[in-house]
Amino acid sequence: MIADAAAEAFRKEYGAEPAGLWAAPGRVNLIGEHTDYNEGFVLPFALPQRTVAAVGPAPAGEWTVCSTFEDGAVSFGRTEPGGVTGWAAYVAGVVWALHDAGHEVPGARIAIASEVPLGSGLSSSAALESSVLTALVDLGGLDLPVERRPAVAQRAENVYVGAPTGILDQSASIRCQEGRALFLDCRSYEVEQVPFDLAAEGLAILVINSNAPHQHVDGEYGARRKSCEEGARLLGVPALRDISGDGLDDALARIDDEVVRRRVRHIVTEDDRVLETVELLRAGRTRDIGPLLTASHVSMRDDFEITVEQVDLAVDTALAEGAYGARMTGGGFGGCVLALIDADRAEAVTAAVEQAYAQAGFTAPTAWTVTAGPGATRL
Ligand code: GLA
Repeated sequence: MIADAAAEAFRKEYGAEPAGLWAAPGRVNLIGEHTDYNEGFVLPFALPQRTVAAVGPAPAGEWTVCSTFEDGAVSFGRTEPGGVTGWAAYVAGVVWALHDAGHEVPGARIAIASEVPLGSGLSSSAALESSVLTALVDLGGLDLPVERRPAVAQRAENVYVGAPTGILDQSASIRCQEGRALFLDCRSYEVEQVPFDLAAEGLAILVINSNAPHQHVDGEYGARRKSCEEGARLLGVPALRDISGDGLDDALARIDDEVVRRRVRHIVTEDDRVLETVELLRAGRTRDIGPLLTASHVSMRDDFEITVEQVDLAVDTALAEGAYGARMTGGGFGGCVLALIDADRAEAVTAAVEQAYAQAGFTAPTAWTVTAGPGATRL
């Protein structure tokens, strides 16, 4: 359906058939939050919701992009960071980053349609970057192996768009596989595709979009990143990844700043929780990851201080309704919560969260169950 919408937008704007359709998903991070830019571990899976790029050829050095969500098309040639603004910057950023990595990027006409909710912490921007990147690599026959693609898309976001994010989102969108969670080492970029077949165990992940307005996202994200870098500097290590759980108490005793100490504690304990979660999934003990998910939330709430009231209420309510575990997913300050539940509890948990939100006077949440979908691909 979303593929048809992209193809239709292409025909309408360019009066021709696209050469092909490429899709890339949004993501849910099962656990491992803010660990990516500390060179640690993450464990995302791909959402079934995807962004589709319908793409056709254009003369060399010319790119045009349109979408189903905004009128009009944006055309550009070779640009430098900042040259294109608005949502098209993610597309121009990918073109720039590919050139910057030494590739001859084919000219293209692009039409975008997406079913990844915008601004909900489900990586709609990475889905956009990844769909376009995969299309351009395929169309141009570029020599860019899958494992090196996320870093190129990340540079589009970091340098061209100017958001100081890590490599989690683009890795998830590009490298995830259906029915698997992606265990990624953010230092070596090595991955393990961990079995994550919830339905087989009668389980489901309920995603609850808090619909809370995202506030201070950029500034607070950058501030967390700075505190972590400060922690690593004080401890004399390249990144907080190099502090082990066993060495945490010693490390904390060497940091005077109370805020930096809390930030460090979140990252070090979160890396350990990712490793423990992976162990349990490998052993087929999915239910048992619940307490780790909840502990991750508590750590984000109290130590990393990136949750908001709506998000905390969704977690508490899901747990009170029998969820095995629940946590905020994504960068924070709003966005979505995930809850690990028995598959037949989705309606009851959703109703309870809706009621709790109504009582608190919050905007109603949106909730749906998800399975692990495929990563970026040509359709
Ligand atoms: C955002 C960033 C990611 C990651 C998460 C937090 O999604 O884009 O790189 O840092 O926040 O885990």
